[in-house]
Amino acid sequence: MTEPRNSYKLIAPHGGVLVNRLLDGDMRDVMRERARTMTRVPLSPMNVADVECVSTGVYSPLTGFMGQADYTSVVHDMHLTNGLPWTVPVTLAVEQALADSIAVGQTVALAEPDPDAPGAERLLGVLTVSEKFTYDKAAEAQEVYRTTEAEHPGVARIYAQGDVCLAGDIWVFDRPKEVVSTFGDIRLTPAETRALFTERGWRRVVAFQTRNPIHRAHEYIQKVALEIVDGLMLHPLVGETKSDDIPADVRVASYQAILDTYYPMDRVLLNVFPAAMRYAGPREAIFHAIARKNYGCSHFIVGRDHAGVGKYYGTYDAHLIFDEFDPRALDITPLFFEHAFFCKKCEAVVTAKTCPHGKEQWVFLSGTQVREKLAAGEMLPVEFTRPEVSRVLVDGMRRVNGR
Ligand code: ADX
Repeated sequence: MTEPRNSYKLIAPHGGVLVNRLLDGDMRDVMRERARTMTRVPLSPMNVADVECVSTGVYSPLTGFMGQADYTSVVHDMHLTNGLPWTVPVTLAVEQALADSIAVGQTVALAEPDPDAPGAERLLGVLTVSEKFTYDKAAEAQEVYRTTEAEHPGVARIYAQGDVCLAGDIWVFDRPKEVVSTFGDIRLTPAETRALFTERGWRRVVAFQTRNPIHRAHEYIQKVALEIVDGLMLHPLVGETKSDDIPADVRVASYQAILDTYYPMDRVLLNVFPAAMRYAGPREAIFHAIARKNYGCSHFIVGRDHAGVGKYYGTYDAHLIFDEFDPRALDITPLFFEHAFFCKKCEAVVTAKTCPHGKEQWVFLSGTQVREKLAAGEMLPVEFTRPEVSRVLVDGMRRVNGR
């Protein structure tokens, strides 16, 4: 007897169990009421994103903010104390004075600044503080970001945050406001994508992380990857990015402008990734892969300078770091791609691996050139981006720049 299509098993979550720290029913009402009188801990945009990711299982097996033993193990050894791979700290750093006012064992309220009402706060959930610890910012920067330079946006974030980490499990009664109000219908949680993949009969699913508008090289590596699996989850990150990255709504619109025309939608899911960008290059590639495994993806695309910024990482450092892990512990399979670009002679997107022609035939455009053209209201070359995308970007940047 043949198995029904949807009885296939998806890849297991990291650590085996999909975490759910969202309260519902009476517990939700009771906790929300109790939180009103608790000490409030203000959340940064990255903390808000991390709360969303922990509570919905994106960061399984984490159930809250890391304690000192896990933090130290992650920073220096790229594994949690239970032996699972984990490459970036997920911590809640606060000012010393606030930390001093909170006792270990106390439950505090997690407060998001209300994006629509300056000065106002929304309570998202609670944290039961199991530990308070100080940490070495320069050591974290050097290990995780491979630099202590404050020009690096991830390092700048560490230097700007408080000196004491509050650790402990969280419970969430209200999702962040952005989550409720933005990209509502394309913001599926890991439990929801797993259900959808099963319903569609996809067992092998490749995820694509991005913080940029789609271009032809992205499309090429996505489609090459799709050739060997059942489905493709396009997963643009919509948490905090550095200020000169193109805004998330414009990036997502660039996808929506071309999906129906150029993608087989019965094999593609556009879903947004709520995490903040850390710009940790190789370490973030591992972290991104683990998060996508929690969404039920069996494969993960890693191209050139994944999650990189400036000149901090080598073009393929994010490929090489996978060699430092036991593939069975990661489980999700990385698909490595070389730098792709359009070749005029081939009339196709290629890489140096697949094209015999030289640089004079290849169309390269740097991020700076792209930004300059868009700022001038110019369409990008069709070899670089589809015209439908260029149009969205020109309009989007005009709106952002108030023209
Ligand atoms: S990232 O910070 O999210 O990595 P970006 O959105 O530019 O930035 O890239 C998304 C994914 O596509 C990453 O895996 C990246 O390595 C890959 N990528 C981007 N541009 C290219 C390219 N021209 N050739 C090959 N891979 C690329």
